[in-house]
Amino acid sequence: MAGVATMPVAASSTRFLLLSLLLLSSPAVAVVRARVTALIVFGDSTVDAGNNNAVPTAVRSNFPPYGRDFPGGRATGRFCNGRVATDFYSEAFGLRPFVPAYLDPAYGMRDFAVGVCFASAGSGLDAATAGVFSVIPLSKQVDYFRDYKARLAEHLGAAEARAVVADAVFAISIGTNDFIENYFALTTARFLEFTVGDYTDFLIGLARSFLVELYGLGARKIGFTGLGAMGCLPIERGRRVMLCIEEYNAAARSFNAKLRAMVDELTGSLPGAQFRVAEVYDFFTGILQNPSSYGFVKVARGCCGTGLYEMGYTCSEWDALTCADANRYVFWDAVHPTERANKIIAEYLMNTTFSHFL
Ligand SMILES: *[C@@H]1O[C@H](CO)[C@@H](O)[C@H](O)[C@H]1NC(C)=O
Repeated sequence: MAGVATMPVAASSTRFLLLSLLLLSSPAVAVVRARVTALIVFGDSTVDAGNNNAVPTAVRSNFPPYGRDFPGGRATGRFCNGRVATDFYSEAFGLRPFVPAYLDPAYGMRDFAVGVCFASAGSGLDAATAGVFSVIPLSKQVDYFRDYKARLAEHLGAAEARAVVADAVFAISIGTNDFIENYFALTTARFLEFTVGDYTDFLIGLARSFLVELYGLGARKIGFTGLGAMGCLPIERGRRVMLCIEEYNAAARSFNAKLRAMVDELTGSLPGAQFRVAEVYDFFTGILQNPSSYGFVKVARGCCGTGLYEMGYTCSEWDALTCADANRYVFWDAVHPTERANKIIAEYLMNTTFSHFL
């Protein structure tokens, strides 16, 4: 009798356990068995996990309201209310639910051995872009990666460290700032030196050298995220009676086409290279054009402040205006997506691109 009586309890607690596991393991991004050893991130504010906290720059976000939906409500320096796309990839690969910043003193090689972020908000492919706000240029991000490799070899032994790097997925998200913070913003002389087409070719050349350099350092699985519709960022719309700036979107599409051609060429010529472009442009534009089918209400304004120009410190200054429910917004601040948008985008890019690295 006792056995019979406990059966339903046991069954329902098993069900409860399964349900909790499903919830814990993030419903939107299916968990897959890891043959990926680590997630290694380079780029800009779309994926910076807090490296800029260690850099004397105004481009930072380690204060409220940033991070209010991150575990513990911590403002880590991610430009988001919660996690960014690379955190979701890491989780989907069966690794940690977030990727720590290399310059964050709270983490060490035990953590970095399965995931590390070298990205710096405000950075670009062009070193001049990183110069605008004195952030970490891509070349310095690669120097940090060299340093990381040496420390990884000390931590795991040389052979094991090499294997970790060879089976790691490299996620790169960079290029938007070269246009919106540099070329189109007229903050450097690039707009005088280049037509937009020539500048795009210049950036693709830099991206190519960067990929070849990573390959030389042992990287094999690289996902390079293309540019989104940067003319539809609230900060750009705010300057043109809320319409997207088509000139910027056209530059993004052209960059993406050239990036694809370059990445395909490299993949075909470097033995063992699995380089892929994560095509985000059309998917993201689809969300902006049809927000309700993804459960969003607001697409033209960010959640924080007025939603039209604030990011970083100004977001904090106007915190009283921050929206109550970021899940209804595609954008968290005037430039960066909300955690919920990041999660949907990450799931799409996992399905279409990053899952191929398994
Ligand atoms: C990703 O793939 C899963 C499983 O096939 C599917 O349920 C989900 O809708 C896809 N998500 C996106 C955003 O493509």
